Amino acid sequence: MTGIRNIVILTGAGVSAESSVATFRGPGGLWEGHRVEDVCTPRALARDPELVHRFYDERRAKLTSVEPNAAHRALARLDREWPGELLLVTQNVDDLHERAGSRRLVHMHGELKSALCAACGNRTAWEDSLPPETECPDCGTPALRPDIVFFGEMPYQMERIERALAEADLFVSIGTSGAVYPAAGFVQTARYHGAETLELNLDPSEGSAWFGESRLGPAGELVPAWVGSLGI
Ligand code: OAD
Repeated sequence: MTGIRNIVILTGAGVSAESSVATFRGPGGLWEGHRVEDVCTPRALARDPELVHRFYDERRAKLTSVEPNAAHRALARLDREWPGELLLVTQNVDDLHERAGSRRLVHMHGELKSALCAACGNRTAWEDSLPPETECPDCGTPALRPDIVFFGEMPYQMERIERALAEADLFVSIGTSGAVYPAAGFVQTARYHGAETLELNLDPSEGSAWFGESRLGPAGELVPAWVGSLGI
């Protein structure tokens, strides 16, 4: 990997697995006991707001008992020390990347510690439980919902992400199954624009064949080793 200046990194639930945050699709995954369409779609929210709010309240409460792991910390060091452009795009809604110190960060699927007003679109930092019909501090409408990008909704900051992918020299995907678009297609976009591509994952992802190189193992080992190899 020579001549690398601009890096885009995509992370998924696997990067937080060693912090004891459950992944979505593996054994013990978050969807077991909850069908995805029961908690993660606009229709589910309209049909059973109590269930959807409670589900995300539980995930938010869990954040107080988990800590960033070696992979989060290595990515934060890379962010601090990398002299070129860098964008860390996470599909995760936990706050472990920012708690580790990452700053050049996009939460494309939203954040547990944020509430979204379904009436005015305002986003508000949120720490506690969020009962349905909580009033928006901005417009006063009782319409706050979890700030999570549900299936069928547009992820955040797609223009910024697409721009970064188009300018990337290296795209690295960490701890994601490659099952959910548009994130699953980032490797193809990056390749199209000439970037080198690397996957770091416990198992081959669904899009593994698109990557120039795949390294298999736990993120807590593979990510610090990869960051260490960059010579910063
Ligand atoms: P998944 O649960 O689909 O995939 C997690 C991936 O992490 C799998 O490929 C595992 O092999 C890998 N993995 C597990 N433990 C690991 C470890 N210790 N080190 C490295 N890799 C490990 O999670 P995502 O791909 O993130 O969307 O799921 C994508 C989206 O699906 C989520 O953002 C979520 C869900 O719908 C929303 O909440 C909007």
